[in-house]
Amino acid sequence: MARKKIALIGAGNIGGTLAHLIGLKELGDVVMFDVFGGVAAGKALDLAQSSPVDDFDCAYSGGSDYAAIAGSDVVIVTAGFPRMAGMSRDDLLTKNAEVIGQVADGIRTHAPNAFVIVITNPLDVMVAVMQEKSGLPANMVVGMAGVLDSARFRLFLAREFDVSVEDVTAFVLGGHGDTMVPLTRYSTVAGVPVPDLIKMGWTTQDKIDAIVKRTANGGGEIVKLLERGSAFYAPAAAAVAMAESFLKDKKRVLPCAVKLNGEYGQSDFYVGVPVVIGAGGAERVLEVAFTPEEKAAFDASCDAVKKLLADFRAIGA
Ligand code: APR
Repeated sequence: MARKKIALIGAGNIGGTLAHLIGLKELGDVVMFDVFGGVAAGKALDLAQSSPVDDFDCAYSGGSDYAAIAGSDVVIVTAGFPRMAGMSRDDLLTKNAEVIGQVADGIRTHAPNAFVIVITNPLDVMVAVMQEKSGLPANMVVGMAGVLDSARFRLFLAREFDVSVEDVTAFVLGGHGDTMVPLTRYSTVAGVPVPDLIKMGWTTQDKIDAIVKRTANGGGEIVKLLERGSAFYAPAAAAVAMAESFLKDKKRVLPCAVKLNGEYGQSDFYVGVPVVIGAGGAERVLEVAFTPEEKAAFDASCDAVKKLLADFRAIGA
């Protein structure tokens, strides 16, 4: 069986980390694309030279010709400008929409059958622009945000409870950013929901509230520390989990930005919800019943995403 082919559009911090993880996991061969072709080619060669040390087989190539992505099974898009200190994700809107438009053209022309994972921020709008401009079916275009947000939530919960991250599950929905909605009722330690753990005296509501806040601001905390650029290890790991579920038809239930079609009472825009990722792309949205408070929080998050999309359309970019 021929190896799978994974194209990475954007060979910056996240792109390089994606390429490394994909090689180490032997998910397939990697083609890196960047407007700066030398960066893509240089990283590809450097990574290839690590493969004999770590004993993995992965053909790496890099450049600035979209023709090289032809036949890709998966395309992961990080092309664009990262957030700098003092910028919100939304500040990146017009600059990155232009980039996504170019990338969508390249994908439509050369890899129209690929499963496309968008990482570029502001995520919920960029993934919508990608789907519209590429014309790919909505189930084959998803955004990476929820896996990252829930990983942050899981880490902070695991530290609070002093247990393994492996035994902590988290459930987050909504837009990527301040309005993200973590559902503590469905977040657990070994199946025990967080509200029960509060009752058991393992933690307090105040501490959970602080963790929720830190999670929603997780990207900003890193931007501030790095001073130049934004998070890349965890975003790359999150996108690789999504790609792997597609490539191996694992049907993992992962929170991803998908185009809603009546689920959760919302339609025609992208926002984060739990979804089954398998060989059919985004196969099925997991729709849970909300309490009135959860519904209000989710609807507010959807409103924030819809407003940003409307603002973007209004400037006609
Ligand atoms: N086509 C292809 N590549 C492009 C284009 C374009 N039109 N414009 C910029 N790039 C490339 C840059 O040359 C750079 O190598 O995208 C890459 C982005 O890499 P970084 O600046 O290192 O950014 P990174 O940290 O990887 O984040 C990328 O993901 O999380 C989001 O907010 C983040 O939108 C940002 C994106």
